[in-house]
Amino acid sequence: CSTEAPDSEKTGGGNSDGKITLGFAQVGAESGWRTANTKSIQESAKKAGITLKFSDAQQKQENQIKAIRGFIQQKVDVIAFSPVVESGWDTVLKEAKDAGIPVILTDRAVDSKDTSLYKTFLGSDFVKEGRSAGEWLTKEYADDKGPVNVVELQGTTGSAPANDRKAGFAEVVGKDDKFKVVASQTGDFTRAKGKEVMQAFLKSHKDIDVLYAHNDDMALGAIQAIEEAGKKPGKDIKIISIDGIKDAFVAMTEGKINVVVECNPLLGDQLMDLAKKVVDGEEVPPRVETEEGVFTQDQAEEALPNRQY
Ligand code: AHR
Repeated sequence: CSTEAPDSEKTGGGNSDGKITLGFAQVGAESGWRTANTKSIQESAKKAGITLKFSDAQQKQENQIKAIRGFIQQKVDVIAFSPVVESGWDTVLKEAKDAGIPVILTDRAVDSKDTSLYKTFLGSDFVKEGRSAGEWLTKEYADDKGPVNVVELQGTTGSAPANDRKAGFAEVVGKDDKFKVVASQTGDFTRAKGKEVMQAFLKSHKDIDVLYAHNDDMALGAIQAIEEAGKKPGKDIKIISIDGIKDAFVAMTEGKINVVVECNPLLGDQLMDLAKKVVDGEEVPPRVETEEGVFTQDQAEEALPNRQY
C-alpha cells in the first residue's frame, strides 16, 4: 500500500527553498505507536513544505527494499526509513549512495558496518528502555526473596527494538538470580499475536508473576488473555510495557498495567529538519536521540489527558 502527498511542486534536485521530495519507507501499521509515527511524519512533511512519497511495507523487509529501490528510480532528494529488521541492508543502501541520495534512519537502526551508507539515525535508545523496565522490576521486588517468574513478549524477531529491549532488560535483571525469565517469544508487536502467545504462556506456566512486553499493543492483547484465564492483570500478574500510547495509560489507570516505559513516535518535525539539512549538504550529528520518561500507575491519571498519541 502506498500513499503519496501531491508532488505538483516538485522540481527535482532538492534545495534549501523547501522543494524537497522525501521517500519514506515505513515498517507497517502494526501498533498504536506506528500509527502515531506515520501521522507525525505526514503532518510534519506538509508543515515543512516537503513532498512525501510514503510507502507501507506491511512488516516485510522485501517490501521496504522494493520501496527504497522505487525511490531511487524516482530520484527523490532524500530517503528515510524505519528498518523492519537490523540486518540485510548493505546492498540497497549502497545503491542509494551510488545514486547520490542521502539516507536517514528513523526509529530503528541497521547493523551495517559501513556507517557511510546513511547520514544519521533519529530515534530512541532501546537498550536504555529495556534497562528502565528491568530497573522498575528490581525495585518492585526488592524485598521479595523470589523466585520471580517472568514471561517476555518480544517484538518482531531481528528488529532493533526487540534485540535491544531484550538485552537491556536481561542486563539488569540478570544481576539477581531470583528473577527467572521462564518463557520469551515474539508477539510481533501486535495485539493479536500478544494475546495468542500469552494464552500459550498461561497454558504452559502456572506460576507467572510478571509479564514484560516489548510494546503496549502486545501487553494489551496479553491483558485479554490473562482476564480470559480468570486472573487479574496488574495484580496476579504484574505488567511492564513500552511505548506509552493512550490505551496503555487507560489500562494503567484501571490498574491493569503497572509501568510504562515511554518511546516517543513523534519524530516528524525532527526528521524534516534533518532531511532539509542533509539535502543542503550540512553536517548533522550521527545520532539524534529523543527524550523519554517512565510512568507508573500513580502518575497515569494525571498524565493521561496530556498524552499526544
Ligand atoms: O520501533 C519502535 C517499535 O515499533 C514500537 O515500540 C512498537 O510499538 C512498534 O511497532
